[in-house]
Amino acid sequence: MADHDDNVVWHAHPVTQAQREELHRHRGAVLWFTGLSGSGKSTVAGALETALHAQGISTYLLDGDNIRHGLCRDLGFSEADRRENIRRVGEVAKLMVDAGLVVLTAFISPYREERQFVRELIGESCFCEIFVDTPLDICEARDPKGLYKKARAGELANFTGIDSAYEVPVNPELRLAGEQLVTNLVTQTLDLLRGKDIINL
Ligand code: ADX
Repeated sequence: MADHDDNVVWHAHPVTQAQREELHRHRGAVLWFTGLSGSGKSTVAGALETALHAQGISTYLLDGDNIRHGLCRDLGFSEADRRENIRRVGEVAKLMVDAGLVVLTAFISPYREERQFVRELIGESCFCEIFVDTPLDICEARDPKGLYKKARAGELANFTGIDSAYEVPVNPELRLAGEQLVTNLVTQTLDLLRGKDIINL
């Protein structure tokens, strides 16, 4: 598959990102949640989206389990498939930023290299990595979908944290651990978005 084709030329359309952002009254941005399965990414991202929406911010939540029912339904959990999963989600998030949305993503996104790729694709000025730092033993005790049990029983291969790697973020914009989870998150995120000049509420 070619990365690009000399016969395909980028077409600049008349309505610009800046004009769309003006309508939304804020800039586009990505809040990228990463963490183990069962760490709470989707729950926390959902709670944060609810709060941002209530503040009049135009949001969209891209969730791993949902995206794997459609756009990425052809992908499994090999290293190559996870990398492709994150690449596609990064490209979709980039389009949504161009549309002027504040995009929340909830994917394990286990590899540093892919998270860095997405950071560079979206641009440092509007990308925030949020590490949901719930330890493996807690995720495994929660086991909301019974997948850790299956993985331990050898019925599910390449399970993150069991027999597939999770590379901890080195320098995330936010790290959520334990009780601190949802409580301060909304304030912290709003501060982060203000600091990056994405919103001025
Ligand atoms: S990622 O690694 O490619 O970023 P993604 O977030 O899309 O993963 O999907 C993770 C979800 O798929 C998990 O929350 C879990 O419900 C489900 N899942 C099924 N098989 C696996 C597996 N082998 N490893 C991790 N998650 C799995």
